[in-house]
Amino acid sequence: MDGTRRLYKRYPSSRAGHDTMNTRTLHLRSERATQRLGHAIGTFLRPPDTVLLQGELGSGKTSFARGLIRSLLYHPEDIPSPTFNLIQIYETLTGELWHIDLYRIRTSNEIDELGLIDAFSTSICVIEWPDRLGSLTPQSALTLELTSSTDNDGAREVTLSWTAERWTRPLLNIGKDAIL
Ligand SMILES: Nc1ncnc2c1ncn2[C@@H]1O[C@H](COP(=O)(O)OP(=O)(O)OP(=O)(O)O)[C@@H](O)[C@H]1O
Ligand SMILES: [Mg+2]
Repeated sequence: MDGTRRLYKRYPSSRAGHDTMNTRTLHLRSERATQRLGHAIGTFLRPPDTVLLQGELGSGKTSFARGLIRSLLYHPEDIPSPTFNLIQIYETLTGELWHIDLYRIRTSNEIDELGLIDAFSTSICVIEWPDRLGSLTPQSALTLELTSSTDNDGAREVTLSWTAERWTRPLLNIGKDAIL
């Protein structure tokens, strides 16, 4: 059996309604693998998709975002971490993309001031520290949670989770060779 598929689980969502929560867990053995997963996912994004990047400080959120953004740029360019600017905006092959770091955000007013709510309906949004969004979190988002690998080898593990049906086929189609 294909090991990739074995990691895919389906179970009922804890939220009310008919949404089904899907998850897939992958091992990312290097920063390059993290970037390659970003690249693989970036190729099927379009506005107004939102990708939420959860994980502790230094878990690889920006590395993932760099691969994702690179897959969508017309021309290669530097992709700085938005840690200080909070938002970097890119014109991409499929439309505008916002790369956002909410680490220093404390209130929903501040989120409002960033113009993020509008961006959720017009642009691809890739968000680090999305827990700051609280009730503003888009329900159709794809969520990634990056953690240290349990092998204690300095690598990472990532769990993808989503309810929107449109993510299912492309996410299950990402082969393990794509992220070596
Ligand atoms: N799969 C991986 N295995 C080992 N190291 C990795 C992996 N992915 C990323 N890294 C490393 O983790 C470090 C932190 O990466 P990155 O800046 O992307 O984290 P971050 O989650 O954005 O941090 P912050 O919370 O400060 O925004 C970098 O040195 C990067 O090389
Ligand atoms: Mg970061």
